Amino acid sequence: MNADTQKYKDESWDFRSANTKEYTHCFHTYPAMMIPQIARRLLNEYGSEGHWLLDPYCGTGTSLVEASLFGMHSVGCDINPLVRMIATSKVTPISLQQLDTEMNRVNDSFFEIEFGTAKIPETPIPAIPNIDYWFSDEVKNYLAYLLCQINKVENEPICNFMKVAYSETVREVSYTRTSTFKLHRMPSEKLENFNPDVYGIYRKKLNRNRQGLIAYLEKRKDVEASICNTNTVAGELPIPRPLGGYNLVITSPPYGDSQTTVAYGQFSRLSAEWIGLNNARKIDSIAMGGRPSKRILEDSPVTTAIEKIQTIDEKRSQDVSAFYIDLGHSIGTVVKVLSPRSTICYVVGNRRVKDVQLPTDEFVIYAFGKHGFSHKETIVRNIPNKRMPKKNSPTNVAGKTSSTMNEENIVICQRTDHSCP
Ligand SMILES: C[S@@+](CC[C@H](N)C(=O)[O-])C[C@H]1O[C@@H](n2cnc3c(N)ncnc32)[C@H](O)[C@@H]1O
Repeated sequence: MNADTQKYKDESWDFRSANTKEYTHCFHTYPAMMIPQIARRLLNEYGSEGHWLLDPYCGTGTSLVEASLFGMHSVGCDINPLVRMIATSKVTPISLQQLDTEMNRVNDSFFEIEFGTAKIPETPIPAIPNIDYWFSDEVKNYLAYLLCQINKVENEPICNFMKVAYSETVREVSYTRTSTFKLHRMPSEKLENFNPDVYGIYRKKLNRNRQGLIAYLEKRKDVEASICNTNTVAGELPIPRPLGGYNLVITSPPYGDSQTTVAYGQFSRLSAEWIGLNNARKIDSIAMGGRPSKRILEDSPVTTAIEKIQTIDEKRSQDVSAFYIDLGHSIGTVVKVLSPRSTICYVVGNRRVKDVQLPTDEFVIYAFGKHGFSHKETIVRNIPNKRMPKKNSPTNVAGKTSSTMNEENIVICQRTDHSCP
């Protein structure tokens, strides 16, 4: 097979009209989520029941849910505590009977308030910087009282399940614009009439998630699934480490540094602050490419592109370089825990910076190649429904936008040399 036939477009991977919110996939939105159908098809192709799947940047856990439905054990890593909570909740079986008891208890605590015969009890409001910029007084009182009721749940998985619906509610009842994942306040004319029904929104989400959970519980296999706070860029290894290593990786790494591409941290911040999770304001700087590097990456498939960017904007070229240096380190850590016969599937977008396209797919092949992996194929798919910025201003000239990420690449490499580093 020559290089051209190894990379090809296949529209059957677009999954244009597929339901991407089946099972627990409905629990919570997140920027640049992988669609479950991609993980499902890759599992059918490369998975084996009872083997182990790793997702080193698992986000809300799409590939882990699919692994549990397929029958593979799985481990996910992420530096963002909010998504670790969401992913954990999406893969953890809980007792529906116990859940219903807790849901009814919280419902009862809102009964008179909903009927207007009682006022919302005064509840301490968490010390969140700038809270009044994002929430009205009434919304703050509702959120504080609701959180207090949820925190009474002693069973941790059930408490987390309820916090996941709460987290999405926080975003929806805040003054954040829904049109973007970044934190931007609504225009003032909208603020005046913004009066969200906090408990109604929460209850709807909780019921939706309960339905998804039922479907998941019916189909999931009896396998392990866990999520760890592991930063593979920093050389930390995921735990557990199965004897013989992980057999399959299905993942979608970040598209670039969070500050200039997809702001995972900004998206999560308000919910994480209400729930009281650590590092709520630091995610985007801890994330891959979050710390600038003065070094320009040499001799790699992205080097020419970075040098071109350097001639236009030195600072941006350093940011971009920092991202690929981190991605390379992370791949170096991941390969240490993979089995001698493993397959990796990295779903990546070739984004543009300053109108220069960055061949991330080739970088992934190159970085795994350094560790004895051969490129099997790269499938190019259209992105019909992935929620992420399809247009940006790659030149930073106001008004000049271009479509950057209408396509993504599924890069598949396999370890063939049987030598584990
Ligand atoms: C494209 S998202 C993954 C989305 C996921 N596939 C889903 O369906 O929800 C990339 C994730 O990488 C995480 N991330 C960024 N830097 C990381 C690092 N150094 N180690 C682990 N995770 C990291 C981000 O927090 C983000 O959740």
